[in-house]
Amino acid sequence: MPIRSDSDIVMIRQKTRVWATEQGFGLVDQTKIVTAASELARNALVYGGGGTVRLEALNDGMRKGLRLTFEDRGPGIPDIELAMKAGYSTGTGLGLGLSGAKRLCNEFDLHSTVGEGTQVTITRWK
Ligand SMILES: Nc1ncnc2c1ncn2[C@@H]1O[C@H](COP(=O)(O)OP(=O)(O)OP(=O)(O)O)[C@@H](O)[C@H]1O
Ligand SMILES: [Mg+2]
Repeated sequence: MPIRSDSDIVMIRQKTRVWATEQGFGLVDQTKIVTAASELARNALVYGGGGTVRLEALNDGMRKGLRLTFEDRGPGIPDIELAMKAGYSTGTGLGLGLSGAKRLCNEFDLHSTVGEGTQVTITRWK
């Protein structure tokens, strides 16, 4: 799905909610995934100049999960450790998006190359 506007973020929130429901996540877990997705989509839009998200339904034989991969071809993040710190923002936000998204998921993977872009993958297992 594309991330180009606020309405795309609304769509991503809705789709994530539906997929999480279909994977059998309860209301609290659904909200955690949706919140994390919302933060990462907004980052891709605001800092990355837009991008894409891929949703994957997982089943490793033991449990079900949901994986979301956000990609943008923006400026990248020069200092990932700093960007991950709660309260750090180069914009007008509170600087809680990345750290919050990480806390709300089971797996969090961030790759970024300055001048090329940023990829963030989050996974939540049921
Ligand atoms: N996709 C991205 N591309 C480039 N820089 C990014 C990206 N995502 C995050 N950043 C950088 O990391 C910082 C921290 O991101 P984070 O989401 O934690 O906070 P924020 O977006 O500034 O504020 P909040 O999310 O609380 O509104 C951002 O201010 C920005 O400098
Ligand atoms: Mg943010």
